Amino acid sequence: MTNLIETLNNKRWLGMVLVFLIAVLLIASDVDTKAEEVPIDPDLTPQRVVLTWSGDPATSMSVVWRTKKPLVEPFGLILEASHDPRVLDGEVLRTPALSERMILEASETCYYHTVNFVNLDPGRIYSYRVGSDLGLSEWNHFTTAKTEHEPFEFIYMGDAQNDVLSHWSRTIRQAIMDAPDAAFIVHAGDLVNHPNSDREWAEWFEALGWANRIIPCLATPGNHEYRSNKSLKNRLLGIRDQKLSRFWNPQFAFPENGPEGLLETVYYIDYQGVRFIALNSNEMIEEQVPWLEKVLSDNPNRWTVVIVHHPLYATRQKRDNPEIRKAWTPLFDKYGVDLVLTGHDHSYARTGKVHGNRSVANDAPGTIYVVSVSGPKMYEINSDHDEVYKMLAGDAQLYQILKIENDHIAFESKTCLGDLHDSFELIKKNDGSSVLLDYGSTNDTANHEIAFQIP
Ligand SMILES: [Fe+2]
Ligand SMILES: [Fe+2]
Repeated sequence: MTNLIETLNNKRWLGMVLVFLIAVLLIASDVDTKAEEVPIDPDLTPQRVVLTWSGDPATSMSVVWRTKKPLVEPFGLILEASHDPRVLDGEVLRTPALSERMILEASETCYYHTVNFVNLDPGRIYSYRVGSDLGLSEWNHFTTAKTEHEPFEFIYMGDAQNDVLSHWSRTIRQAIMDAPDAAFIVHAGDLVNHPNSDREWAEWFEALGWANRIIPCLATPGNHEYRSNKSLKNRLLGIRDQKLSRFWNPQFAFPENGPEGLLETVYYIDYQGVRFIALNSNEMIEEQVPWLEKVLSDNPNRWTVVIVHHPLYATRQKRDNPEIRKAWTPLFDKYGVDLVLTGHDHSYARTGKVHGNRSVANDAPGTIYVVSVSGPKMYEINSDHDEVYKMLAGDAQLYQILKIENDHIAFESKTCLGDLHDSFELIKKNDGSSVLLDYGSTNDTANHEIAFQIP
């Protein structure tokens, strides 16, 4: 009897050992499978991934990323998105990327890689990832623009510039939560404070997080994206010696359709019936005039929006910008630019219709100019241009959401808490003229002419 019990106990013990060994083998095989997915070297893993357009938003998308070490044959993978995850492991189009080496201030090196996805279909959701055989980003999605005039919305941010991670990030987070389907984000210059500070650019990318990987960015450089040489000699001789941030061209892939010498700081892009024109208010102002005239005169779009850093009508005395006002506003008037979105003055200001540098009636031909700020640096308002401004209000971190339809634009400026700060609508008539409906900071949306819905 005792022997029988011992035999049974031994069998039970052996069985338990067997079950334990099988479990260990199963766990080990699972661990092995997952280990293959872990990047071998974090210095080869894509960092600072950002979507931009260098071509037509309906058929292309550019992705830039950075690695600490050089990559052998970097590439992007792309396919039409599906809810079925197995599709991601099937046949995927592989597009080679171009790399460039950059030396940082501390003599360290890094590498920027750009892939241009082309021949895409309009109005589709795509899945993409970038990297190399030694490390890939996660799969992300973006949507191509439609070829026809379709409603969409976008986010417009004034200067981020200071304390970008600790203070600015709350504004961009609120903006994206408020407009999660934004087609893109406009940054009107002074994204950082020191143009060549790798740490500050790191904060900018961290503050945006994965938003940069799914929402394209449109940006124009501010004076803080330029490094000025203010030597005694330059100051005495009145020489303006400045150089664009070394990060600008490598880390963004903007269209190269601007004037020579200003590539990727001056450009235009057409998005679902709107021409967006980015100007550079820091240098070569006169050289941009003939290019601007051509881009405005040969424009099949119903709406035209200009993005530029310096305000055409400063909100503070001694910060006025007569040179750009004199050079560019006659063209804005002549060709009926609808909106000019700016930053620089670290406050908020918004005109009514302006034509010939004067306020005009809400239904007269004219342009609306906006100054805004999204970061924490605040300036007092003390303007020589009170006459043109309908709304002047400082001391708030702000973001703007613009909803655009075929015949109207709804504009809302909001605080970083999501409260309405200013609003208006522009209605476009069949003859191309427009009417401004000015609501200011009223929260009574029932008064709004049009109940606006983005599908
Ligand atoms: Fe500025
Ligand atoms: Fe600024």
